[in-house]
Amino acid sequence: MTNSMVMNQKKRILSGITPSGSSLHIGNYFGAVKPQIELQDNPEYQTYYFVADLHALTTVQDQTQLEENIKQVVLDYLGLGLDPAKCIFFRQSQVPAHAQLAVILGNYISYGQMKRMHAFKDKLQKGVEVESVNMGLFNYPILMASDILIYKPFGVPVGEDQRQHVELARDVAENFNRTYKTELLPLPEPLISKEKGKIVGTDGRRKMSKSLGNTIGIFEDYDLIEKQIMGCYTDPNRVKATDPGKVAGNPVFIYHDLINQNQAEMADLKKRYLLGQVGDVEVKQKLILAHKQFFAQARAKRQELVQQPDQVVAILADGAKRAQAVASQTLREVMEQVGLIN
Ligand code: ADP
Ligand code: TRP
Repeated sequence: MTNSMVMNQKKRILSGITPSGSSLHIGNYFGAVKPQIELQDNPEYQTYYFVADLHALTTVQDQTQLEENIKQVVLDYLGLGLDPAKCIFFRQSQVPAHAQLAVILGNYISYGQMKRMHAFKDKLQKGVEVESVNMGLFNYPILMASDILIYKPFGVPVGEDQRQHVELARDVAENFNRTYKTELLPLPEPLISKEKGKIVGTDGRRKMSKSLGNTIGIFEDYDLIEKQIMGCYTDPNRVKATDPGKVAGNPVFIYHDLINQNQAEMADLKKRYLLGQVGDVEVKQKLILAHKQFFAQARAKRQELVQQPDQVVAILADGAKRAQAVASQTLREVMEQVGLIN
């Protein structure tokens, strides 16, 4: 049996990330990137991960900025452990079949369903005039449905905020299959962690998100990461270090639970916090140390890759070739099904 035959028998996993801004934060990492990377080691699956550069055009309309964002997110993923020997890693724009299929799939979803998508509704909530929302943003879920369905994946590992988009992809597939009385497009499962799919931000209120400025970075200079951690919301009812504090739901302890690998230290900190025997500053300083330890290897690996731009380009080119082989096959099947090839 050849390698490609073995590969074809595996169920596929697919996910993407939009290079819309700064480096990844710990919410992205624990909610999406870590589960994605872990799946690369599962022999049942073949993983496909891509940088959704076409999606980024909805907000990044500066060429230098876009190039920079793409580079950053690629390095972040490779630094965090994505292994191109195990995963197929590529740029969306280098696999033209995504965009071609999206043009077809737009016909199997209604305007009413699209209007309910939150990326679009969020813009309106922020006071943007409906007339001026760009069509790339409005159509974003159709392109995302195409990104997904073109690989006929079993599952799509993402954070909670992407659930609605994966569900729309299911709706598109269902409508398509019903229209042509076929099972050509299998319905993908959203793979979303119950506990980690929506990590709270340092403001203690909203989900951690780069656009809200409530993040803790992974690869930034420690000056900045220390500031982010020291500025983190804790227990508002605690005035002095001697007041008993709340651990449950306290963001600093949520982050400790994710990052700190020293169980004994954490148990001790929690115990003293509840009794009012430790100040926020010490808890935060320990979190900074834990962050340094947890991400040391990823930071070193990323630093190494910065010196090897040619290798990074080669990884993406190889990934695109392998992805295009699968994507163009599905595109062809869809074109045959609808009557565009006979
Ligand atoms: P951001 O909101 O910071 O712009 P993205 O939209 O780029 O993040 O999300 C990239 C991936 O990380 C998506 O799969 C998303 O669901 C996930 N994600 C983003 N923020 C969080 C969070 N706070 N908790 C868990 N997962 C998240
Ligand atoms: N919308 C996702 C995000 O903002 C990125 C994305 C684009 C994606 N296409 C996808 C995720 C397909 C999963 C599957 O992070």
